[in-house]
Amino acid sequence: METRKTVRLILRPWALTDAEAVYEQARNPKIGAMCGWHPHASVSESREIIEHILHKPHSFAICLEDNQAIGSIGLLFQDDSNLPLSDHEAEIGYWLGEVFWGKGYTTEAVQSIVAYAFEELSLVRLWAGAYQKNIPSQRVLEKCGFYPHHTEERFFSKPTGETHRAVIYVLEKA
Ligand SMILES: CC(C)(COP(=O)(O)OP(=O)(O)OC[C@H]1O[C@@H](n2cnc3c(N)ncnc32)[C@H](O)[C@@H]1OP(=O)(O)O)[C@@H](O)C(=O)NCCC(=O)NCCS
Repeated sequence: METRKTVRLILRPWALTDAEAVYEQARNPKIGAMCGWHPHASVSESREIIEHILHKPHSFAICLEDNQAIGSIGLLFQDDSNLPLSDHEAEIGYWLGEVFWGKGYTTEAVQSIVAYAFEELSLVRLWAGAYQKNIPSQRVLEKCGFYPHHTEERFFSKPTGETHRAVIYVLEKA
């Protein structure tokens, strides 16, 4: 898995040395509340999350040109997605530190990972689940060409055990 560059961003594999940068953003409860996980409680918890969850194939740190991690984007496959995925499909997920919201960064990152999924991994379909109240995430998906497929009343989050009403989006390879 190689580092990817966009106009303003570097998408690169995670490193344990990103723990402080992750904690700085992911301790903010507004992020986990939309992703279905609890806010990170310490730098060491962020380090464990990097080690066990983020540091894997098809999972990227979103960085500005100074290479500091400001967010996360990646693909989940049949084994680790909550959605009933087929072969050649994946679920895309992402978050960004709050001070960086509203600048189009996530849209830029999603567009790059869509190209990666379809061109390099030869996937044919991408899915994403956004809580119904999460309008910014739905805007990101729509700006990237995804369209709403159906609404799931009880979209389950393993880390919190909670369910939320979510809009499930899909994007077919052109
Ligand atoms: C969702 C998230 C990743 C968006 O990141 P971002 O970099 O700010 O996204 P972008 O700047 O590319 O686009 C955001 C869009 O939402 C719009 N938006 C933001 N807040 C909004 C609101 N309250 N109502 C309507 N639109 C809103 C922005 O105007 C923009 O759309 P536009 O370009 O048409 O103006 C970021 O808010 C985040 O990390 N949230 C918490 C975690 C999360 O929700 N992850 C996704 C789980 S499905």
